[in-house]
Amino acid sequence: MAFWNKKQNGKKSLDPNYISAADSARIARENRKITTAYEKKRSRKNVPESEYLTKMRDPKNVVEFDDVHTYFYTDIGTVHAVDGVTFDIPASSTVGVVGESGCGKSVTALSLMQLVQRPQGQTVKGEIRVNLGDKAYDIVRTPTEAMTHIRGNEVSMIFQEPMTSLNPVFRVGAQIDEVIRMHNPEMNPDQVKARTLEMINLVGIANQEGVYGMYPHQLSGGMRQRIMIAIALACNPKVVIADEPTTALDVTIQAQILDLFRSLKSRINASIILITHDLGVVAEMADYVVVMYSSRIVEKGTAREIFHDPRHPYTIGLMKSKPILNKKVDKLYSIPGSVPSPIDMPNYCYFRDRCDKRFGRCNGAYPPQIQISDTHFVSCYQYAPENEK
Ligand SMILES: Nc1ncnc2c1ncn2[C@@H]1O[C@H](COP(=O)(O)OP(=O)(O)O)[C@@H](O)[C@H]1O
Ligand code: SF4
Ligand SMILES: [Mg+2]
Repeated sequence: MAFWNKKQNGKKSLDPNYISAADSARIARENRKITTAYEKKRSRKNVPESEYLTKMRDPKNVVEFDDVHTYFYTDIGTVHAVDGVTFDIPASSTVGVVGESGCGKSVTALSLMQLVQRPQGQTVKGEIRVNLGDKAYDIVRTPTEAMTHIRGNEVSMIFQEPMTSLNPVFRVGAQIDEVIRMHNPEMNPDQVKARTLEMINLVGIANQEGVYGMYPHQLSGGMRQRIMIAIALACNPKVVIADEPTTALDVTIQAQILDLFRSLKSRINASIILITHDLGVVAEMADYVVVMYSSRIVEKGTAREIFHDPRHPYTIGLMKSKPILNKKVDKLYSIPGSVPSPIDMPNYCYFRDRCDKRFGRCNGAYPPQIQISDTHFVSCYQYAPENEK
């Protein structure tokens, strides 16, 4: 549209979203400077541990996200994908991260694994502390070299689409073997295979030996997702990130995979970060819930607090848009309006233009985080002290 404006009028477009080729080239040059500096820092060898060791705020947490900012430096501007996210993952707990598509859930999780698409994607501010018992790492400052010990070993991830994560030309048994061998070089081949069979059994697959020798295409979607879960758990990680683990599966298989997660919860001692846009999944599984909107956390608390006492208008809207079994509704609620552009964030509450509760103060700066209980926090002016009703 902007292009046509320019051609027809022969003068510079007034469209604020229009970026000329020259501007875009300039932005690209500036971006390269920034991202090259980050990459150089991260790829250094023999970095002293003191540079990236840190202290947990609370030793009972396995992960602490602390004011994490992850940006993408693109040719049309900087995408603020995660913009100041703070939450904890207590030991042996399941934390649900919910929010609509594009709000920064995956990028938050990928930041913890240092798997954000690079060099464009960089965590530019904040700390992500991972508790390894005797010491704690700040993932944001951990160089690539040291990261390989953490990724897979301490923190592992289950992706949405199992077929794209498994290698189609290798038998599934060999793929699990490889992960176990890589992280346990002292094991002999028999021990590795025994552990693989044990993992296949753990994720509820009968006929372990048969499945061990199969290729991914010979398995159904649900079976493949079970194999991905086996791979993620193979090294006894402290944290497993499940990013929309059931979204690509059909409904009955979704239920089976959720059952599997539930049964695993009591048998493994890992914490789970469960990312989903499906509140039903979170309600069944999570101990704590984090609600994200447009790259920030708008509300967080225990599952009970979020489901029974939601405070933020966005969370309340999400609850109203969730279908409830045995309850007849003519039409599910849908939150009007759309999410602001992640490149050009407003300097007021990001939800304001969609909010039916907005009032004078909402035109001010982004709302502060207000504490409702020991565990319950919300970012909304309705609960800010001067306005408490
Ligand atoms: N590689 C990338 N380059 C540019 N922007 C990206 C990239 N990956 C994600 N983003 C942007 O970051 C934001 C958050 O994305 P994401 O975390 O994937 O959302 P979701 O909550 O659906 O998982 C979105 O605005 C998305 O467009
Ligand atoms: S701060 Fe204002 S606009 Fe934002 S969610 Fe609260 S009431 Fe709505
Ligand atoms: Mg995602």
